[in-house]
Amino acid sequence: MRTTTPIFVKTVSSAGKFCFWRFFIARLFYFWWHVRARRIAKNLAPYLKDARTVIDIGAGNGLIARELTRLCPNLAITLVDVMDWNVSSLPLVRFDGTSLPFEDDTFDFALFIDVLHHAEDQKRILEDAMRVAPRVIVSEPLHENVVERISANITDNLQFILYGMALACNHFRKRDLIQFFEFITKRIEFLGEVSWRHPAFLLSRED
Ligand SMILES: C[S@@+](CC[C@H](N)C(=O)[O-])C[C@H]1O[C@@H](n2cnc3c(N)ncnc32)[C@H](O)[C@@H]1O
Repeated sequence: MRTTTPIFVKTVSSAGKFCFWRFFIARLFYFWWHVRARRIAKNLAPYLKDARTVIDIGAGNGLIARELTRLCPNLAITLVDVMDWNVSSLPLVRFDGTSLPFEDDTFDFALFIDVLHHAEDQKRILEDAMRVAPRVIVSEPLHENVVERISANITDNLQFILYGMALACNHFRKRDLIQFFEFITKRIEFLGEVSWRHPAFLLSRED
């Protein structure tokens, strides 16, 4: 597991002192979150069409869950996160980031969209997701080259400044991500990119 050094934190933090820039960047981000949520939900909806219950782990602002509910009206989505910056009207449950407060097999699917690299104990939370749902969809940003590493650093540091999101960023290269999944299950299906340079994988329990 590799850790990204937050090289941009100082630069952007000093810009963050000026309220105008913070406001301006926050507005840009807000627009981007909406466009992105629509795109991700549209790409995920076909896989969830037969599902009834989904847990969105690390649901963040809740916009993806909101879009999914719009596209799949029969879907009941439970939002959980370690912090609450949810702007959707769907309720969000806070938890400790390792043990989900739900019984085994409570859900048909679990989602991790752009979350695993923020988690301190990635194996534990993914294993717990597979306990509460037999199928888990994981999407992570690609981290293969210098451009992707710089863009991940910028995004993560902006999220830290704007939302107070944890900076514990353990990004994966695609190859390492698949190896990591294989510790948990051998049933791994590549679903394509759900957003720009964000591949998604469907992990199914082996039992
Ligand atoms: C980049 S945001 C993604 C939010 C949302 N999934 C989306 O794609 O719009 C990462 C989210 O993961 C959450 N997070 C960090 N560590 C977590 C953990 N161990 N378990 C669950 N969520 C976590 C953060 O609080 C944050 O809301």
